[in-house]
Amino acid sequence: MTHRIAVIGTGYVGLTTGAYLAHLGHTVVCADVVVDKVARLNRGDVPILEAGLDELVQEGLETERLSFVVGAAKAAEDAEFVFLCVQTPQGEDGSADLSYIREAAAEIGPVLAAETIVINKSTVPVGSTRVVEQALERDDVFVVSNPEFLREGSAVHDCLNPDRIVIGADDQASAMRVAALFESLKAPLVITDPSSAETIKYASNAFLATKVSFVNALANVCEAVGADVREVVLGMGYDKRIGFEFLKPGPGWGGSCFPKDTKAMVHIAEDHGYDFDLLRGVISVNEEQYERMADKVERMVEGSISGLTVGAWGLTFKARTDDLRDSPAIEVLRRLRARGASVVRAYDPGVADASSPLLKGVTVVADPYAACEGADVLVVLTEWDEFRWLDFAKVAGLMHHPRIVDTRNLLEPAAVRRRGFAYDGLGRA
Ligand code: UGA
Repeated sequence: MTHRIAVIGTGYVGLTTGAYLAHLGHTVVCADVVVDKVARLNRGDVPILEAGLDELVQEGLETERLSFVVGAAKAAEDAEFVFLCVQTPQGEDGSADLSYIREAAAEIGPVLAAETIVINKSTVPVGSTRVVEQALERDDVFVVSNPEFLREGSAVHDCLNPDRIVIGADDQASAMRVAALFESLKAPLVITDPSSAETIKYASNAFLATKVSFVNALANVCEAVGADVREVVLGMGYDKRIGFEFLKPGPGWGGSCFPKDTKAMVHIAEDHGYDFDLLRGVISVNEEQYERMADKVERMVEGSISGLTVGAWGLTFKARTDDLRDSPAIEVLRRLRARGASVVRAYDPGVADASSPLLKGVTVVADPYAACEGADVLVVLTEWDEFRWLDFAKVAGLMHHPRIVDTRNLLEPAAVRRRGFAYDGLGRA
């Protein structure tokens, strides 16, 4: 059975949610406050780099199951279900800022039909279902929590193949109505209370961040004792209780979710009288990782980076996205600049527009070879596959000194060393 759905907010979560719900056969109206963005989306012009999303939006527009409007109320007035997918940025004290959620709920409250279900997909602290209920000022509609677990770069795939669907509701009937929307996905359902659903989202991101911080710390130990972290992870991962996923060392975790959600979780615990010491440790290991990467680069140049030229491959927080928010790559480059690097020339296949204020102090170039011209050291910061397949003899010829610090263990050390490079990866000799 198909339904009339409104989606409020067209960021990574909202746009992907709207597009795949239309793909599942529902009629979806997506709302945003940015007039230009809505106009672009109605023309099928998707403003983010996300595999498969252009096609899904195009399909929705062609079948007329997907449309975009300005303003939450306009989208919600005819809907049976309204998904709130607005941002919950980090507030000044580390807590999640709920003002966008409150505003959206207050705007749609007066226009909702009785029995509408408002579904919160934004990542919100425990108890936020109540915040939405209050802002709606309606006692004839239902509020349900349905956290989203998609990853940037594979958002469409993750939505269409979810590991699980979590629904937090006070009444079973609302939960079942929401579950029916996703029936064709045949995913395991976790139906629970709203507080547990909200906690599941934070706990999942906090746990994944913990895995990455663990492996980054482990890589440091491996370097100290002469072990190879990739072999160690292989040996650990066959244990089904541990697994292989999320154990790739790197320059630290970043993006629009882990940094904000781990801090929010520490804050939520603190608010309720618990010191989440373990998670604070996970966050500080991550922040130290940026410094460690800068230290590695200075060790590679055998002294200070001051006055030297750095080439960089990768700016985004991970491959297959154009997202620069809280990118470890940028954090590392910022530290190298602060330590005196005179030029930082960077290439990233996802970044064509160098105008972002996040890129201050970095010269963005249009191809990977240009990033290496005259460089004293090359730092690999994001795991784009194309970096593996470049002409390393050419790279060596362009550099002032052929030296590579590979913070993603992306390259084959023996192969680049054969071409005359000094090479350093993470957690391996
Ligand atoms: C993360 C979660 O994985 C999603 O399940 C969740 O829905 C999303 O946050 C969210 O809350 O919206 P995302 O931020 O897109 O997704 O990125 P991840 O793929 O989780 O990567 C996060 C960071 O960890 C990146 O900087 C990545 O490079 C790093 N990472 C990840 C590693 O350094 N090593 C790994 O093995 C895995």
